[in-house]
Amino acid sequence: GLKIVTIGGGSSYTPELIEGFIKRHAELPVRELWLVDIEAGKEKLNIVGEMAKRMVKAAGIDCDVHLTLDRRHALQDADFVTTQFRVGLLDARIKDEAIPLKHGMIGQETNGAGGMLKAFRTIPVVLGIVEDMKELCPNAWLINFTNPAGMVTEAVLRYGQWEKVIGLCNVPVMAVKTEAALLQKEEKDLFFKFAGINHLHWHRVYDKDGGEVTAELIDKLYGPDADPGKIVENIRDMRFLSDQIAQLGMLPCPYHRYYYMTGNMLEEELQEAQHEGTRGQVVKKLEESLFELYKDPNLDYKPKELEQRGGAYYSDAACEIINSIYNNKGTQMVVNTRNRGSVSDLPYDSAVEVTSLITAHGAEPVHFGAFPPAQRGLLQVMKAMEELTVEAAVTGDYATALQAFTLNPLVTSGDIAKAVLDELLEAHKEYLPQF
Ligand code: NAD
Ligand code: G6P
Ligand code: MN
Repeated sequence: GLKIVTIGGGSSYTPELIEGFIKRHAELPVRELWLVDIEAGKEKLNIVGEMAKRMVKAAGIDCDVHLTLDRRHALQDADFVTTQFRVGLLDARIKDEAIPLKHGMIGQETNGAGGMLKAFRTIPVVLGIVEDMKELCPNAWLINFTNPAGMVTEAVLRYGQWEKVIGLCNVPVMAVKTEAALLQKEEKDLFFKFAGINHLHWHRVYDKDGGEVTAELIDKLYGPDADPGKIVENIRDMRFLSDQIAQLGMLPCPYHRYYYMTGNMLEEELQEAQHEGTRGQVVKKLEESLFELYKDPNLDYKPKELEQRGGAYYSDAACEIINSIYNNKGTQMVVNTRNRGSVSDLPYDSAVEVTSLITAHGAEPVHFGAFPPAQRGLLQVMKAMEELTVEAAVTGDYATALQAFTLNPLVTSGDIAKAVLDELLEAHKEYLPQF
């Protein structure tokens, strides 16, 4: 049987992970699941951990759920390690959103200045986990969904020198569901070819006769008469400029709104921050009500309310990756993995987010090739920004951090970049020992 270790086990998403393992139990024999958290998350861990135990019991499967604050103890002989933690919890996220907004910039958990600060807090912790894995479970796979998932994968590959890592996001999962439904086709009858980096990828879609249906989807989703709808809960369904999307000839991801519709997105964010608060503040309330539900000793299944979180279905995707590796299934999934030439516009060794085949040896990226200039320009700037952000997170070098801020299209460069960087470094200093 398998031993799985989940770091950040106190997350409200944990029931989805449990549901995913229960669903696959016949082919994926998870015998031990260790939920690991820290002192600050102890109460959450206990509530959601007890709920996890009830779910497993109700399903009648042979799996022991352990709750612990001792990461090293949990990691001993693990087969798979999944990570879903948030350094500094939601209070840190709220600062990542509010401080850039104050300086007239997008405030977001994975994009702009906020996303870079989240990388600074998170990457040292992830690299610590990798060091523990080298010692305690050298054959294990690391399945990461901790954000910023692309930069975390880049850090693990480049600085952790750990090849057995796969980074995961739910945006492609949601896009596939939405687009298959729009075409009134089954997912298995379509081929989705994604390429780019986390939260900044484009894709093409083909039907089972080999015909490309991308243009039809662009028109249905983003054409002049389209009602865009939401792909993920945390991003508003704002219209793109339909001419611009048509020129791309590929489907954008919902996060492209921050880059293609910056002014409008900022305006909406400012409005929302004034009324219901930043997304982090909204999520804090949502999380409180989820944990109230989880306390109910009769609740032994994943409640519907979890779908209000932006990350819905990401844990299920993680279970599918583990299943595909364990059973050498060759499933097609969109993951963060080493480029190896699949996107020729990006460095060979960098992390990319691409359609891949998942087998016992990990992710095998499907070749995408080169992008046209409209995509290529933004993508290359963003990857360079990521490389600098990861380097700054590892070294704590202030000038490198400033250079990363300067490259990020969502950060106003010059004195304003410096001011927002300084304020963020100060606000988060308890989580930034490297700076
Ligand atoms: P959360 O705020 O509930 O945090 C999860 C747990 O992590 C908490 O219980 C916290 O105590 C714990 N934690 C913090 N620091 C830790 C450490 N050093 N070691 C172990 N545990 C630690 O977070 P959440 O809303 O469940 O999100 C978890 C993570 O997943 C975040 O980084 C979030 O950005 C990310 N996420 C990713 C996707 C995706 O598409 N990949 C989707 C949703 C969320
Ligand atoms: C999205 C993304 C995640 C993101 C999250 C936010 O869909 O894929 O990477 O950070 O959901 O969700 P939340 O409910 O926390 O705002
Ligand atoms: Mn994501």
